[in-house]
Amino acid sequence: MTEILVTGGAGYIGSHTCISLLDAGYDVIILDNLSNSRFAVVSRIQEISGKTVTFYPYDAANELELEKVFARHDISCVIHFAGKKAVGESVHMPIDYYRINLNTTLSLCTVMQKHNVKNIVFSSSATVYGTSDIMPLQEDFPLGECTNPYGWTKWMNERILRDIWNSDPSWSIHLLRYFNPVGAHSSGRIGEDPLGIPNNLFPILLQTAVGRIPKLIIHGNDYPTPDGTGIRDYIHVMDLAEGHVASVKKCLSDSGVNIFNLGTGKGYSVLEILTTFEKTIGRRIPCEIGPRRPGDVAICYAGTQKAETELHWKASRDILSMCKDAWNWQSQNPFGYE
Ligand code: WQD
Repeated sequence: MTEILVTGGAGYIGSHTCISLLDAGYDVIILDNLSNSRFAVVSRIQEISGKTVTFYPYDAANELELEKVFARHDISCVIHFAGKKAVGESVHMPIDYYRINLNTTLSLCTVMQKHNVKNIVFSSSATVYGTSDIMPLQEDFPLGECTNPYGWTKWMNERILRDIWNSDPSWSIHLLRYFNPVGAHSSGRIGEDPLGIPNNLFPILLQTAVGRIPKLIIHGNDYPTPDGTGIRDYIHVMDLAEGHVASVKKCLSDSGVNIFNLGTGKGYSVLEILTTFEKTIGRRIPCEIGPRRPGDVAICYAGTQKAETELHWKASRDILSMCKDAWNWQSQNPFGYE
């Protein structure tokens, strides 16, 4: 019995990761305050996997609540997703973002240390690279100037975790830098369900397709790319989930701070995504070209060699699968989990 604590496990990436952990034979404990998710997700994780999970409706920043979980379980590793993650929102609410995203990590590591649990996989982001002109992004690139408070909280959390290891090298810390997670589990029973107005391309495409948003605004078509629109490394959320399982497996036998890009190593433009998505649903999506979005870069995609070599993990699902699985989720759940 190997118990894995997943903070934020009822969230988009967290819930898909729980499915892969259960499929791999791990015992899953979910801690989630449901501030940006719903208990229905926990039920559907159990429905899909055919296995039970232990769920605590707790806040990862609350040391007393964390203490109850660590006292009741023999946790082998923690995957830390809990936190706020909307780039645009973080610009308007920096205090909440710094308070929540840093306090969750500091409280969690305090209680982990007390219980001698020193294996952690942290949900980081490619935003920590800042606005690099050199592609693909490699893990040993210097960290850059983040363009928003959300990105800075990921940057700071990586710093906090690295300093914890500097103080006690018996910790095993994996920093997973995500690129653009999209899609959904093939069952269509779980998927991305952002609260409020979404910022990211896929949820906006999906909500436009079901009529919740009138049209897609393409943020600029004058970038130095083949078709003028922004290029990103979209990765199927189930590939990302399986990357976390590979990371946990290595983290349990590792020590030190290990950084891994979780991307496909390929970039696709907004127009390529739009065209693939329209083919998937068999109709056009209303859209128009708008101005560039502040903070956007032209091109961003991952160097993936390190994860392939050291985690023995490589993304396998293509753009068409991402669009099909995303649409399967949204068309079955036009208003998300409500
Ligand atoms: C993708 C492309 C837009 C919306 C963000 C976060 C990053 C990470 C992934 C957490 C860009 C274009 C988008 C729209 C558009 N999240 N676009 N119209 O900005 O690459 O990364 O999500 O770690 O931290 O920054 O993703 O989906 O917002 O944009 O044209 O309505 O789609 O300009 O080229 P992004 P995105």
